[in-house]
Amino acid sequence: RNPLILDTDGGVDDAQALLMLLAHGITPLAITTVFGNVSLEAATRNILDVLSLAKADVPVHMGQSRPLTGAVIDARNIHGEDGLGSAPRPVKAADPSERDGVEFLVTTLSAAARTGTKIDLLMIGPLTNLALALRMAPMISDGIGQLTIMGGTLFGRGNTTPAAEFNIYADPEAAAIVFAADIPTVVAAWEVCSAHAMESDAIDALIEALPGTPLAEFSAHLMLHARKVSFSYGGDGHFRFVDPLAAAAVIEPGLITAVQTHSVDVALAPGLTRGMTLVDPSGRLGTPPVTFIETADIDRLCALFAASAHWTP
Ligand code: BDR
Ligand code: CA
Repeated sequence: RNPLILDTDGGVDDAQALLMLLAHGITPLAITTVFGNVSLEAATRNILDVLSLAKADVPVHMGQSRPLTGAVIDARNIHGEDGLGSAPRPVKAADPSERDGVEFLVTTLSAAARTGTKIDLLMIGPLTNLALALRMAPMISDGIGQLTIMGGTLFGRGNTTPAAEFNIYADPEAAAIVFAADIPTVVAAWEVCSAHAMESDAIDALIEALPGTPLAEFSAHLMLHARKVSFSYGGDGHFRFVDPLAAAAVIEPGLITAVQTHSVDVALAPGLTRGMTLVDPSGRLGTPPVTFIETADIDRLCALFAASAHWTP
């Protein structure tokens, strides 16, 4: 397996995705943070706190605090004011690295490209850091083995707007740059993620069976927060695999049961469709082919997720 860099905006399901990786023996080489669900500072603090709870020593490099153009948005309505649904924090966590996240990506991926090695990327927030890195050093694409993204829509039904999913809507220009680069890419799109869920009763049973460790209590809090938010938006309280679906695709690629290949571009014009991913199986958009996940084995997803909640570092 290639070394992995995780790029994240530090929300509730980002924390769950990170814990899934760690619990399954995948310790990222480094984590780069980005604005998104919350501010860059809050996202970074959240990730450092998760690493502390998980007793994992991973350098965290802060990336971009704003999109390439336009205003900063967030999703505190979903992830809570602090981005982690006010989950209990460790008393003390490490500080972020002083190294800039984009500079880290440029230097590390350039070195991989030069030496003919590959690093995988898992991106579960806005794509700003990688887009900037690609602008500064286009050859870094040769150093990326596989890029896995949670973002975009496959059927044009978004969560942040009727047409656009949050991670792409937060920085559409960045997403367009990333999709135009020739990088082997797998996408977990919004509608596909939200079609893969762990039922509310199963979440209850999982929480009931958890040990009383600070990490397990933290995980239970995240699950209960997600349910509360689901109910507050008229949802069914089931736990939908969003960032955790992308993480699962990295941990166990075999759990992906069907994919489609598309060329993909991003609508950039202001208006109703801004941030929408346009996909075309016949390649007419002229962008490199991207693999979109269609279905995943829900029993394996639930098993990986449950194991990470039970995990004792
Ligand atoms: C995406 O946006 C964030 O709220 C989630 O963490 C996920 O990355 C879903 O649109
Ligand atoms: Ca995220």
